[in-house]
Amino acid sequence: MSGHPEWVWFDGEIVPWERATVHVSTATVLRGANVFEGVRAYWNSDERELYIFRNDEHLRRLRNSAKIMRMAIPWSPEELTRAQVEVLRANRYEGPVWFRLSLYVGEGEGRTFPPAEARIGGFILPRLSPHGEEVTAGVDTCISTWTRIADTNVPPRVKAGANYHQARLASVEARLNGYTGQPILLNERGKVSEGPGACFAMVRDGVLVTPPITSNILESITRETILELARDVLKMPVQEREIDRTELYIADEAFFCGTGAEITPINSVDHYPVGTGKPGPVTHRLQETYFGVAEGRVAQYRRWLTPVYGGVKAAARG
Ligand SMILES: Cc1ncc(COP(=O)(O)O)c(C=O)c1O
Repeated sequence: MSGHPEWVWFDGEIVPWERATVHVSTATVLRGANVFEGVRAYWNSDERELYIFRNDEHLRRLRNSAKIMRMAIPWSPEELTRAQVEVLRANRYEGPVWFRLSLYVGEGEGRTFPPAEARIGGFILPRLSPHGEEVTAGVDTCISTWTRIADTNVPPRVKAGANYHQARLASVEARLNGYTGQPILLNERGKVSEGPGACFAMVRDGVLVTPPITSNILESITRETILELARDVLKMPVQEREIDRTELYIADEAFFCGTGAEITPINSVDHYPVGTGKPGPVTHRLQETYFGVAEGRVAQYRRWLTPVYGGVKAAARG
C-alpha cells in the first residue's frame, strides 16, 4: 500500500499528488475554514467492483455543513459524484478505500468574506484503507477530561476541519494515558455524547441505545445505518436517548461507529470491563451485517451503493 495516492481531485481537475496544494495565506490553512466528508468505498471481490457507500447521504450532509458555514458550493452533487468516481478510477483501486471530500475557503487573511465573494475550492484525497485491527480486537477507552463542543459555540453538526482541534486534544490525551481507543466525550449537560471521530452505541438488556442527535454529536451516517440494520435485519429494539456515564460501566456491549471507525467494539471504559471484556454477540452480528451491506452482498440495500467501475470487470479494464 503506497503512502499517498498518485492522483487527487483538486479544484475541479484530477492532478498528480504533488500539485494538490493550497496557499499558506488561505483561511483554510490559517483557521481551519473547511467542511468535509470522510467516505468509504468498499471492494466486492466477486464482482470486482468498488462501491461508494451512502454517497447521497454524504453529499447531503456536506451541503448542510456548507449551508450552516455560509459557503456556496461551486459543484453540483452530480459533479461531485463524478469527481469521486473519476479520482477512484484514476488511482485504479481494487480494495477498500477511505477518502476525504473537502470544501475549503480559498481566500486570504484579514477580511471576513461575504459568502458570495469567498472563493470555495475543493479536493478529494483517497487512500487504500483496510479494516483496522481494532475492528476485530476491540479497544480500551475512557471518559475524556474534555467536554464535547456544543451547538451554541462550535456546532458538531457541521463537519468542519476546525472541530477536529478538539479531537486531537482528547485523542492524544487518551493515548498518553495508555488507552488504545479514542475517548468518549460527555456534553455540557454531563451526558454521553460521542468519540472525537465516531458515534457511540451500547447494548443494555437486548436494546441498542445511542445518544440522540441533540447530544452534541455529528449527524452520523453510520449511526443511522446501524439503527436501521439493528431494527430491520437483527429485529432488535433501538432507543435514541440520553445516556449517563455510569451506564457505560454496566453495559452488556458497546462500540464506536463511524465511516472511519466502522464498528469498533469497546472492551472497557475507565478500566471497567464492558460485558465480558471482549466484543459481544450483537456487535459481531452488526459488523457482519454492515460489511455485507457495504460490499453489496445484500440486495435490499444496494440502493445505498454507487459503483465506481460501472460493472466493467477489473480484468477487462486491463
Ligand atoms: C465527530 C464524529 N462523530 C461521528 C462520526 C461518524 O460519522 P459518519 O458515520 O457519518 O462517518 C465521525 C466521522 O466518522 C466524526 O468525526
